Amino acid sequence: MTTPRLTGRTAIVTGSTSGIGAAVARTLAAEGAHVVVTGRDAARGDAVVKEIREAGGRADVVVSDLAGSYAGIRGFAAAATDVLGGRVDILVNNAGIYPATRTEDLADDDLDAMLAVNVRAPHVLVAALAPAMAARGDGVIITVGSWMARVGIPFAAMYSATKAADEQLTRSWAAEYGPRGVRVNTVAPGATLTPGNEDSRAVLDAMTASTPAGVVVRPDDIARGVLFLASDDAAMVHGATLDVDGGMSATRSGWPGGLTPACGPARARCRGWPGGAACRGRTARRNGP
Ligand SMILES: NC(=O)c1ccc[n+]([C@@H]2O[C@H](COP(=O)([O-])OP(=O)(O)OC[C@H]3O[C@@H](n4cnc5c(N)ncnc54)[C@H](OP(=O)(O)O)[C@@H]3O)[C@@H](O)[C@H]2O)c1
Repeated sequence: MTTPRLTGRTAIVTGSTSGIGAAVARTLAAEGAHVVVTGRDAARGDAVVKEIREAGGRADVVVSDLAGSYAGIRGFAAAATDVLGGRVDILVNNAGIYPATRTEDLADDDLDAMLAVNVRAPHVLVAALAPAMAARGDGVIITVGSWMARVGIPFAAMYSATKAADEQLTRSWAAEYGPRGVRVNTVAPGATLTPGNEDSRAVLDAMTASTPAGVVVRPDDIARGVLFLASDDAAMVHGATLDVDGGMSATRSGWPGGLTPACGPARARCRGWPGGAACRGRTARRNGP
């Protein structure tokens, strides 16, 4: 029997009402952490908390809108800290949105929301929570980035830029807070099947068929990467990006090069990344044997 790695620790996992964040919340709680589950949807948050409690873990919901006001985000940080007994040991900046569209078709509201949720919110939360970690000389901050941060691909220019910003924030925060005992790192998922993109399952399968792993990544795979970085096993890991992507970014495999704007903006505007029947055959042929 192994000893839980996070006994007595507390954690906030943003975007944990769904997908990768929910898996991270379940995993950290299973290792003994008291977790704040958060998102805009209280009912989905309650469902994740119920699951954690039924498994013997400790979790509570605190609703947040990370695209809302600065005061609202700071209020969320304070409320979550209270629920956790006044101390946050682990912050996982996971919440993210990824509208897939041509640059010229990206709606102003989507652009603002992406910058707010993917970049502004992690910054505001770190500013609110890292000083107390640094004062104690102990803390962990993990931001969920993306394999898209380091490649140029169509339909995701601003999204990729937000994730590149997250990686750079990680390096800067590692320099700023690391010397005071706070470890800061990024986990970069590959094409991961979640409620956010499940309508594009066929495209995800095609994208991952030629990666070393050969299959889509699962939220639990990402959660294990986050757990490693959150635990003392990663005591010497600062400012790093851990790719959990089936080898996609290391081998530059998987990206369906056939997907170009010529494939059609209507398909490209699907909520998930990047979907639509029009390009699927082409994608599959490109990645086929
Ligand atoms: N899935 C992939 O293939 C993939 C690949 C690389 C990186 N990532 C990154 O992994 C992270 C999670 O992605 P996912 O696929 O698990 O997404 P998802 O299933 O769509 O879940 C997104 C989460 O973010 C929360 N969220 C969205 N807008 C919010 C807002 N304004 N305020 C507060 N919470 C908000 C959602 O909660 P509510 O709906 O309750 O507000 C939800 O819990 C993101 O940062 C994404 O960029 C995903």
